[in-house]
Amino acid sequence: MTKITLSKKTLADQPKKYTRLILTEDAPTWHRLVECTDGTLEYRMGTGKQKNITPRKFRTLVRSIVQAAQSHQIEHLAIHLGSMSCPQLEKEGNEWFYRTLAENLTLAAYTFTKYKSTKPKTKQLQEITVCGPIHKKEADAFTVGLIVGAAANITRDIANTSADDMTPALLGKAATQAVAGTNASVKVLGEKELQKLKMGLLLAVGKGTRHETKLIVMEYWGAGKPTKNETSKAKQPIVFVGKGVTYDTGGLNVKPSGFMHDMHMDMSGGAAVIGAIAAAAKMKLKKNVIGIIPAAENAISDSAMRAGDIVTAMNGKTVEVLHTDAEGRMVLADALTYSERYNPKAILDVATLTGAALAALGQQASAIMTKDQKLETHLRELGEKSGDLVWPLPLWDEYQAPIKSVRADLCNIASNFSRFGGTIEGGAFLQNFAPKKVPWAHIDMAPRMDAIASDKLTKGATGEPVRLLVRFAEEY
Ligand code: BES
Ligand code: MN
Ligand code: ZN
Repeated sequence: MTKITLSKKTLADQPKKYTRLILTEDAPTWHRLVECTDGTLEYRMGTGKQKNITPRKFRTLVRSIVQAAQSHQIEHLAIHLGSMSCPQLEKEGNEWFYRTLAENLTLAAYTFTKYKSTKPKTKQLQEITVCGPIHKKEADAFTVGLIVGAAANITRDIANTSADDMTPALLGKAATQAVAGTNASVKVLGEKELQKLKMGLLLAVGKGTRHETKLIVMEYWGAGKPTKNETSKAKQPIVFVGKGVTYDTGGLNVKPSGFMHDMHMDMSGGAAVIGAIAAAAKMKLKKNVIGIIPAAENAISDSAMRAGDIVTAMNGKTVEVLHTDAEGRMVLADALTYSERYNPKAILDVATLTGAALAALGQQASAIMTKDQKLETHLRELGEKSGDLVWPLPLWDEYQAPIKSVRADLCNIASNFSRFGGTIEGGAFLQNFAPKKVPWAHIDMAPRMDAIASDKLTKGATGEPVRLLVRFAEEY
C-alpha cells in the first residue's frame, strides 16, 4: 500500500531517496526521468498550459502522476503542486485543491490484489510525499481528502470481492468493519425480522439462495440523536439507500453469458453507502447520516421468485414480477419505505440499476432522477466539485402508466416489455416507495460500476459515488 504524507520540507530539501516531480508546460504526453548531477532523480512531466487546467483535468493529472510513478517503478515520490499557477483552480479555493489532491492520489494508488497468489516482482510505489509549506486549513483539507479517498477504496475492495466472499451476511460484516473505531453503529436484520417488517419485495429477491437476505442499517449521529418529539431540522438525518445485490444471475429470467460475470459488483451502490458512512464518521462530521443497504443474492433455484409472481411490499403495494432481472428496484423499494422511520431531511438511493443507463450516458456519468429541481441542481454541482459526475433524466408522471399492472398495483418493468426509457422506468417504480414530501433522488450508477481507461484508475470498481455522497452529507 502506498503511504501518502504531507511534508513541511520543500521539494529540494527532501532526502535523496525521493524522486522529485517537476511539472512543465510541455504537452501532456511528454515526460522524462532525469538523473541530476547531485545524484537525485527528477521525473519531469508535461501538463500542457497551466491556464488550461480545469478541475476535471486536475483530477486526471493527479492520477496520471501516480500511474507514471508506478510504471517507472519509482518507490518514493516527492511532489510540490503549490507553485502551479492555474487560474481555473484558484476559483475553487485552496481547500478544494488540497482535498482533491489527496482524494485522487489515494484513488490512483489503489490496487486490488486479494486474489493474486504471488507478490508483484516489480518495485512498488511505497510513498508519495506532498511538500509544503502549507497552512493548517489546507493540511486539514488534505487529511479529509485522505479519509474520503481511503473510504472510496474500501468501497472498491468490497465491490471487487467475489460473491462467495461477499454474501449479504459478509456485506454486513464489511459494513461493521468499515466503521470500526468510530461513533457509527451497524445493525444487520435477518429474514425473520424482515418478515416481521413485511418486506415482501426484498425477501422475494433473496428466495432462491441459501445465503440469508439481510437489511444492513448504519447510523451515524454526528449532530446528536434527536429525542422522540424533537423537530429540530439540524438533527434530521440524511438517508443513503444502497442496492446490495451480492450477485445478480438475473434469476429465472437468466442473464445471457457475457452479461453475468461482473454481477458480483451489483452491490456497488451498497458498498458506496458503506464508504460514505465510514468517511462521515472518520471525518467526525457534525451531521446525522443513515445508511440502509438491502442485501440479497438474486439466484436461480426451485425456490427462486418466478416471473408472474405477485408480491406485497412493506408499504402495502402489490407488485407483479414481470422480469426477475429487475430485482434492484424491488430490494430498494422496501428499503425506501423503511427509511421513513428516520424522518429524513433528504434521501438518496444509489444503485447499479439498469444497463439502459449505459446506453443513455455511456460510462462517464451516473444518471440521476428526482422531481426536486433544487436537489437536481445541487447534485450536478456537487458532481463537478467531487468528480463523481451525474446527469439528470426526467421523472415525469407520464412514466407511471407503463408500469401499471393489470393483476396487481405495479409491474417491476413496463407491462409491454418495452426496453425504451428503461432507466427512467426504474426511477418511476421507486417513486412509488419513496416517502412522500421528502426530497429524494435516485442515482443509477450502473455506468460507473466499472472503471474505464480515461478514469486513470486500476480496472474494476471505481468507488463512486462516495465523494459525491460525502459532499452531500456535508453541504445539503
Ligand atoms: N444489475 C443489473 C443492471 C446492470 C447491468 C448494472 C449492467 C451494471 C451493468 C440490473 O439488476 C438489471 O438486470 N437490470 C435489467 C433491467 C431490465 C430487466 C428492465 C437490465 O438492465 O437489463
Ligand atoms: Mn438484474
Ligand atoms: Zn441487478
